[in-house]
Amino acid sequence: MSLLIKNGVIVTASDKYMGDIFIENEIIKEIGLNITRVADEIIDAKGKYVIPGGIDIHTHFNLHVGNAVANDDFYTGTIAAACGGTTTIVDHMGFGPEGCNLKHQVDVYHEYADNNAVVDYGFHGVIQHVDDEILNEMKEIIDDCGIQSFKGYLTYDYKIDDDKMIRVFERLKELGGITTIHCENHGSIQYLRKKFVDKGFTSPKYHCLSRPVEAEGEAVNRMIKLAKIANYEGLYVVHLSTKDGLEHIKKARESGQNVYAETCPQYLLLDESKYELENNEGLKYIMSPPLRSAENCEALWQGISDGYIQTIATDHCPFSFNRDKQLGKSDFTKCPNGAPGVEERMALIFSEGVMKERISINKFVEVCCTNPAKIFGLYPKKGTIAVGSDADIAIIDPNKEVTFTTDKLHSNVDYTAYEGFRLKGYPIFTILRGKIISKDGEFVGEKGYGKYLKRNRI
Ligand code: URP
Ligand code: ZN
Ligand code: ZN
Repeated sequence: MSLLIKNGVIVTASDKYMGDIFIENEIIKEIGLNITRVADEIIDAKGKYVIPGGIDIHTHFNLHVGNAVANDDFYTGTIAAACGGTTTIVDHMGFGPEGCNLKHQVDVYHEYADNNAVVDYGFHGVIQHVDDEILNEMKEIIDDCGIQSFKGYLTYDYKIDDDKMIRVFERLKELGGITTIHCENHGSIQYLRKKFVDKGFTSPKYHCLSRPVEAEGEAVNRMIKLAKIANYEGLYVVHLSTKDGLEHIKKARESGQNVYAETCPQYLLLDESKYELENNEGLKYIMSPPLRSAENCEALWQGISDGYIQTIATDHCPFSFNRDKQLGKSDFTKCPNGAPGVEERMALIFSEGVMKERISINKFVEVCCTNPAKIFGLYPKKGTIAVGSDADIAIIDPNKEVTFTTDKLHSNVDYTAYEGFRLKGYPIFTILRGKIISKDGEFVGEKGYGKYLKRNRI
């Protein structure tokens, strides 16, 4: 099977040039001007951007929390990814039974994903508790399962204490692994949640008020300091939402300490005024960390452009508004946390970022495709356009205008957080290992075509 993409503007994290791409047997075989090879299929990409397929390094498919289950499984969720220009996702596995080992959830997630996913996929390990057994097991999870990253939470039921976190840092330093951390100060959040609920302040805006910017800033700073104590360079802050947290990351990086940071479209494009919407619509935006002020959004855009934030992922975690989110209608603490976004991400960042000149098109590719691959052990197989790389490509028509409405999107959920967003520029083809899996925003791929990706240590 071969495919020739002609006359496009090829964009990588560092280059932008006119050219043709010849693909055969899932791999990019040749890049050049006026390639005349015979191909099974030809796409004329004149006037379009040809970029690496998007990599969403933070999703939650099949996630079970309390009484609710995230509405996308690995089939529906990856269809949404494909239709939005994303060819690889790496999912954060949910918690397993108390006391389970790391492999337990890896097996559960292979059951969920194998033969279902339509884009390529990997998993991040999840740390529920820390002891010698878990630290030993990390080696085999990295070597045998190809999982070189593990997430620890500083809040929620399985929060990891500081002494344990240092042990994880020391171990993953030895093993060459990444520690991704959900950074929020647990004590202050617990205190504020109880205080508000006791006073009868239970509407969605109190979700936001109970998780102040300082709760994130403190936790980010604490993890930076603990990583420094462990002399560990693989700390990765997930879903950064605040200027406060960003300032700590900036300071660390400027002092020569390596810290990675990820943010998400919701923290760039939506603000805390959403919690005041009528008819309890604020429930749609209950996620942790919460949406912040517009000032924080602007600081994060600047952080991307200045290189302090390396990736934009989605934290896609869809709960239905009409059923699941209503659990929180008379008490925000009962509302399942999270929002959809896997399909919207690439178009949002292209339109709001590149077209509005907040970031360059190379930066867009860097943060949405290349850096996730580099940090999480997929590069150069994924994340770039180069001879020998997997032929994972999104073709963006910069003139295509789309207005987001729930009915046009593919996630198995009854709302989009970006309803009514008017976009300029949209992915019109998504190609995974040489096969067209989405065309004009519609899915044309095949259930189970997505392959599990073993990822390399850094
Ligand atoms: O509210 C969120 N972000 N839900 C998903 C779980 C997490 O913390 O990433
Ligand atoms: Zn998190
Ligand atoms: Zn998450």
